[in-house]
Amino acid sequence: MAGAILAIDQGTTSSRAIVFGSDFQPISVGQMEFKQHFPKSGWVEHDPEDLWSTTAAVCREALERAHVSVADIAAIGITNQRETVVIWDRKTGKAVYNAIVWQDRRTSEFCAKLRKDGHEALFTEKTGLLLDPYFSGTKVAWILDHVEGVRERAERGELAFGTVDSWLIWHLTGGERHVTDATNASRTLLFNIHDNVWDEDLCRLLGVPMSMLPEVCDCADDFGMTRADLFGKPLPILGVAGDQQAATVGQACFEPGMVKSTYGTGCFALINTGDSPVTSRNRLLTTIAYRLNGKPTYALEGSIFVAGAAVQWLRDGLGLISSAEETQGLAEKADREQPIYMVPAFVGLGAPHWDADARGAIYGLTRATGPADFARAALESVGYQTCDLIDAMQADWSAQGETVLRVDGGMTASDWTMQFLADILGAPVDRPSVAETTALGAAWLAGSRASVWPGQEEFSSRWHLDRRFSPVMAKSERDRLLAGWRDAVRRTRSTSS
Ligand code: G3P
Repeated sequence: MAGAILAIDQGTTSSRAIVFGSDFQPISVGQMEFKQHFPKSGWVEHDPEDLWSTTAAVCREALERAHVSVADIAAIGITNQRETVVIWDRKTGKAVYNAIVWQDRRTSEFCAKLRKDGHEALFTEKTGLLLDPYFSGTKVAWILDHVEGVRERAERGELAFGTVDSWLIWHLTGGERHVTDATNASRTLLFNIHDNVWDEDLCRLLGVPMSMLPEVCDCADDFGMTRADLFGKPLPILGVAGDQQAATVGQACFEPGMVKSTYGTGCFALINTGDSPVTSRNRLLTTIAYRLNGKPTYALEGSIFVAGAAVQWLRDGLGLISSAEETQGLAEKADREQPIYMVPAFVGLGAPHWDADARGAIYGLTRATGPADFARAALESVGYQTCDLIDAMQADWSAQGETVLRVDGGMTASDWTMQFLADILGAPVDRPSVAETTALGAAWLAGSRASVWPGQEEFSSRWHLDRRFSPVMAKSERDRLLAGWRDAVRRTRSTSS
């Protein structure tokens, strides 16, 4: 079978690899979870060696299961958890510290200081982002300032910085390439999204030597060849995008106004705004959706830190369920008359609140409250949070028109959750037939660059609906529920914000 693509999806809790056939259908999947490190409250780290070793292992697993010859793999596409930071030694390839994960809040004081010193407007103007610990820049600065000897080594040009895509490509190519793509670069606080270059002023403000930064490529580009010994034959890496941008591509949201929302660890909604980087008045982010042939297409993004992670907490933190799939059945048993609200600010609140110091809360508990109500509140929190994002998008960009939300990610398997989402948004929610949208986006970038997959138009025409969820909830009920949610969020916010 010619024209197959190996897509790597290196995520927050697991590494996955999927072989896609030339008909865009997944043929095989390899998946491995890896350890999460929480050294202090609000800190989240990964061992960079785990990210690399699990990625290499799942690639081999997917290739074996696909029963295709390596000669049939035309290219590799990579998509990854964004903003997570790795710094490594260019000679040895060894990381100088654990990867600091996007969810990590350790730089919240540094961000507050930069804000207090009046720098936020400059960062927002150039990068489209806000001064929040979520983004890579202040995490890089933290490693430079807190790990002994690292700043000196960086200044001598001995160290490389990368988001997870860079780190993986470095290893896949045996240290030949230190590269990233424009979407990952656009999440670092160091990249000027208008000029498409690393920004000297911002690097100076954060104290990051520019010699550490990777070369920035298009999303469909030449990212190097894999080491010959890895898969039996060198394979070209031809596509890279951060996972949320890859999902935007995989959902074929190529036209301005098209919007997708992905439910993984967190939830990230992106609306394509075309050639124009729209500045948000409602604390959404302006970001690069994809860059093809040197031309960036922009998006407004709403980022929520906890979506699937709330269900994971029901399972691992509370032990209320033994698998995520049980949540819907449990939620259906909850008493509708006694609404409880869960604000899952476990690592602060993202868009549109950006409150790094808030922590999770549950309201409305009575003696009748039980596990079913917790399950329901966790699933509903995902709908409420998405609603806050879509409202902000509508307020920011009048060209948006009627919203139809394309959804993907693990939680979209729950019909109950998707129906609640449509009800609370008061808008249709479309679930596509290919659930592996993020990996598909990376595969398309690589496959089209390799000229074995078709261009944008044909790819879009082959996006198929699995099911549309249409809103049925009365407006009065929706307003009542949303008022309760907004009150719960207000009470959860930290006083310092
Ligand atoms: O920005 C963080 C995002 O890329 C992580 O995605 O899939 O782990 O929720 P996910």
